[in-house]
Amino acid sequence: MPEYVLGHHLKGEGKRLALMSELLDPMHRRHIEELDIVKPGARTLEVGCGNGSISAWLARRVSPDGKAVAVDLDLSLIDVRAPNLELRQDDIVAAPVDRRSFDLVTARAVLHHVANVEAAIGNLVASLRPDGAILLIEPDFLPVSVAKPPCTAARGTADQIYLGKKWQRVRESNPCTSLERAVS
Ligand SMILES: C[S@@+](CC[C@H](N)C(=O)[O-])C[C@H]1O[C@@H](n2cnc3c(N)ncnc32)[C@H](O)[C@@H]1O
Repeated sequence: MPEYVLGHHLKGEGKRLALMSELLDPMHRRHIEELDIVKPGARTLEVGCGNGSISAWLARRVSPDGKAVAVDLDLSLIDVRAPNLELRQDDIVAAPVDRRSFDLVTARAVLHHVANVEAAIGNLVASLRPDGAILLIEPDFLPVSVAKPPCTAARGTADQIYLGKKWQRVRESNPCTSLERAVS
């Protein structure tokens, strides 16, 4: 069973996801619109869809003939429904959703939670149609500033950062480090 630290059963998780939708959906929708690929009849995939707000918007954009597929480990906090919105409980690390079948694949604030990010991105790419587009949005945790003592302090960008022993361990286990490798 995949591990996810912010389980949907936790108190306040629904409110947290609603706040993320309110704050981040306008930016996410703008980036999708810039791709100019989501039109009536298109097939879209969102993984780690949370409460489903972006997938519901995608479902409206691809209607009446298209389909928006929304995938998450846990579908219990999804509060949207639409005729052409398909909800699937699945683990994106395990396998592609449907091979070579989506015009758009997107994920927001998901990959930094995933232990095997290379496998996840490989599965997302495998789910794309040959001319499809992939849009991955992750939080930027840097620069960061944390408390003294110096061995735990980190300031600056990833390249300039002070690599105290503790921070070095954090970096080594940070999926974003492998993501840089995966996309370069
Ligand atoms: C921080 S929430 C972000 C939700 C939504 N994308 C947003 O930005 O509002 C991360 C979501 O990814 C889901 N998730 C985590 N690991 C996953 C995996 N391996 N496969 C599918 N979904 C996953 C979680 O269940 C959770 O709903």
